[in-house]
Amino acid sequence: MICLRGINKAYCEKNGEERVIFRDLDFCPANGERSVAILGRSGSGKTTLLRIIAGLDVDYEGKYLFEGEAQAKDMAAAATLRREFIGVVPQNALVLEDRSVLANVELGVPKGIDKKQGAHGCLERVGLLDRERTSAAKLSGGEAQRVAIARAVAKQPRLLLADEPTAALDEKTEAEILTLFERLVADGTRIIIATHNQAVANWCDSKYEIEDYRLVKV
Ligand SMILES: Nc1ncnc2c1ncn2[C@@H]1O[C@H](COP(=O)(O)OP(=O)(O)OP(=O)(O)O)[C@@H](O)[C@H]1O
Ligand SMILES: [Mg+2]
Repeated sequence: MICLRGINKAYCEKNGEERVIFRDLDFCPANGERSVAILGRSGSGKTTLLRIIAGLDVDYEGKYLFEGEAQAKDMAAAATLRREFIGVVPQNALVLEDRSVLANVELGVPKGIDKKQGAHGCLERVGLLDRERTSAAKLSGGEAQRVAIARAVAKQPRLLLADEPTAALDEKTEAEILTLFERLVADGTRIIIATHNQAVANWCDSKYEIEDYRLVKV
């Protein structure tokens, strides 16, 4: 699915110094690793890694292959890849507060599919169909997170990147989200989840931890 080779990534801090995040990182999950957990301490680079895979960050050294094809470090090309193949659930569930729940999810439904019908199906899967008319500004943190998940799965992505997708959810809702992920995986979607949650990590086929600027399988 994806393969990262020899990734170096550093952020430039305000004082001009470099903050190294990745040094010669490799990440090439095998075909059988349909769901992968990314673990690591706060600040270790989990979000940064998902942003690179999502093509939201092209400022790194090294190679990125998506389904065997080398990806250019170019924002426009990355946006095309993301639009066609990758669903992203950001760490801080981003919902457009001036729109309804339904309108937020409709944004994720690709061309050629009935927007309303597509969004309904996804809202049902995250248990929010009865809130479709609610203004997104009125949602709780966990509800907003589920809207973000519904929007990301609406495009039936080949790869779903979820950054702490259950952080604001109670155990029952978390279990429902894992059931949804289970179905996605059965339908052929690959999932990479950054998480601190042991239950979510244990659900995944494999776990990797960011340690000393690299990913180590655990
Ligand atoms: N745009 C940025 N500019 C400068 N430094 C950044 C930027 N984004 C992240 N960092 C730094 O890079 C490091 C890794 O951040 P990242 O968000 O990837 O960590 P994380 O593992 O996702 O942490 P958490 O578990 O808290 O979400 C942090 O020290 C952070 O301060
Ligand atoms: Mg993070």
